[in-house]
Amino acid sequence: MTTDRPFFVTTPIYYVNDQPHLGHAYPTVAADALARFMRLEGRRVKFLTGTDEHGQKVEQSARAAGVSPQEFADRNSAAFREMDRLLDISNDDYIRTTEERHIRGVQALWRELERRGEIYLGRFAGWYAVRDEAFYDESELVDGKAPTGADVEWYEEDNYFFRLSAWQDRLLAWYEANPEAVAPRSRRNEVLSFVRSGLKDLSISRTSFTWGIPVPGHPGHVVYVWLDALINYITALGYPTGESSEYSIFWPADIHIVGKDIIRFHTVYWPAFLMAAGLEPPRRVFAHGWWTVEGQKMSKSLGNGIPPDYLVGKYGADPARYFLLRELPFGSDGDFSHRAVVGRLNGDLANDFGNLAQRVLVMINRNCDGCVPEPDALEVADTALLGVARALLGAVRTHVSDQAFHLAIEVIWRVVGEANRYVDEQAPWALSRSDPARMRTVLYTLAETLRHLAILVQPFVPSTAAKLLDQLAVPEDRRSFTSLATAPLAAGTRLPRPEGIFPRFVEENAQ
Ligand code: MSP
Repeated sequence: MTTDRPFFVTTPIYYVNDQPHLGHAYPTVAADALARFMRLEGRRVKFLTGTDEHGQKVEQSARAAGVSPQEFADRNSAAFREMDRLLDISNDDYIRTTEERHIRGVQALWRELERRGEIYLGRFAGWYAVRDEAFYDESELVDGKAPTGADVEWYEEDNYFFRLSAWQDRLLAWYEANPEAVAPRSRRNEVLSFVRSGLKDLSISRTSFTWGIPVPGHPGHVVYVWLDALINYITALGYPTGESSEYSIFWPADIHIVGKDIIRFHTVYWPAFLMAAGLEPPRRVFAHGWWTVEGQKMSKSLGNGIPPDYLVGKYGADPARYFLLRELPFGSDGDFSHRAVVGRLNGDLANDFGNLAQRVLVMINRNCDGCVPEPDALEVADTALLGVARALLGAVRTHVSDQAFHLAIEVIWRVVGEANRYVDEQAPWALSRSDPARMRTVLYTLAETLRHLAILVQPFVPSTAAKLLDQLAVPEDRRSFTSLATAPLAAGTRLPRPEGIFPRFVEENAQ
C-alpha cells in the first residue's frame, strides 16, 4: 500500500560516554535506508538522529576524562556526527539533549504531566545500574547484578514518580488495537508479558547528581535521563508548539528504530508518558538485534568496537552499509566478521552487480558508439527480464515496509542474477557481427534493467547507485520511483565512459 503521508523516522540518540562503533552505525544505517526509500517514494521525510548527553553515566565519564560534562558531550557528539558523514547518512536533523529547544520541551512536558496529576513526590529505595541508566527490582537481579550484567548500586532518595501503574490497561489496549506497533513479533510478545505481569510507578527525577535538566519548580531535582532522552523525538519537532510546528506534520512518528536492549523504554514507558500527557503514541517501534564481532561481544575492554572510520576506511561506506543490511534479518542477532564482509563484497557486490554493470556498459561503449542503443522488436527473453525488473518495486516496497531490509536486497539481487544469466545466454558479444540489430536490443534490455536496479539500490548503496545512474545518463530528477515506470532510457542518449563500480576487496597481505 502506498501513501503520500509525511514520514518520520528516528534512531536512538546515542550516549556520549562512548565512542561510536558498529553497534551505533547499525540503527543509523537502517533508518537512513528507510528515509531514503520514502523520499524516493515521493514522501516528505523527517529523519532524526542525535545524542543523549545527560545523566550519571555521562557525568562520571566526563569526570574520569577530566573535563566538564558539557565539554565532554560536545566532543563526543561531534564524533557521532562524523560517523553520520562517513556513512553517508542523510538525516534532516540532529538533536542534542543539551540544546535549549530540547530542555524547553522536556520541561513543558513535565509540567503537563504534573498538571494532569500523573506525577507525585515519593521515596525511592532500590537498585540502579548507571551503565544502563535503569532501575531494577530485587527479583530481577542475577548474582547481584542487573540482568544485563551491569553493576547495580542501592540508593534511597526523595524522587518524583510517574504513575506508570495506572497505565497498564491502557497500554494493553493500545498493543491490542495496534498489532503493528511493536515489532518484530517476538519482541511484541516479550513486551506484552512484561506489561501483563504488572507495572510499578517509575522514578523520574534524581537528586544525587546535577548533570541533567532541572525539574521545573522543584529545585534540587534533575529529570531522569530516560524521560529526558525519549522526549527528543518530539522536541525535535518543535514541541510544545503544536499547530505551527513540524509536530503537526510529523507526529506520531512512523517508526522508532531501536535496539532490543531498549525496547521496554520505547514501547512501555514512552507511550505511557505520551498518553498521560494527552499526546499520541508512535505508530511503530522496531527492535533490531545485536551484533557480535568475530564471535565476541563488543566491549570497551576488548577494544573490538569497530569504529566507523575503520569500517569505512577498510571497506568503503556503501559496502559497509550493504553488509549491515544484507547479512542479517533486521531483528535477529548476528556476527560481524571480516571473512563474511569480504564474502559479500567480492560475491554480491563485485562479481554479481559490479560485473553486470561493467559488462553492459563496456559493450555499449564499444559497440554502440557510446550511446543507448535503439532496440528492435523484443523477444520473449527480453520481455521476461524487463518484466522482472519492472515488478521489483512492488516486492521491495513490501519488504521495506516490514523493515525486512535483507529481503528487499535479496529480491533486487535475484534480478541481478537473472540479468547475468541473460547476458550469458544472449551472448551479445557474439552478435556484434552476426546480428547487430539483435545485439542492440539485448544491450538496450540490459541497460534498462540496470536503470531499474540502480534506482532501487539507492537507499542501500547511495553513492554507488548515483555513480551508476550517472553512467546511464539518468538525470537527477529522473531517479525517483515514479521514474521507474515513466522515464525509460531513450535510445541515442550519449553515455559517459564506463567506470567500474564495486571493486573487489583485495587483502593487503595478499598483494
Ligand atoms: N541513549 C540511549 C538511547 C536513548 S533513545 C531515546 C542508548 N544509547 S546507546 O548509545 O547505549 O545505544 C544506542 C543504540 O545502539 C541502542 O539501540 C543499541 O541497541 C545499539 N547498539 C549498541 N551496541 C550494539 C551492538 N553490539 N549491536 C547492535 N546494536 C547495538 O541506549
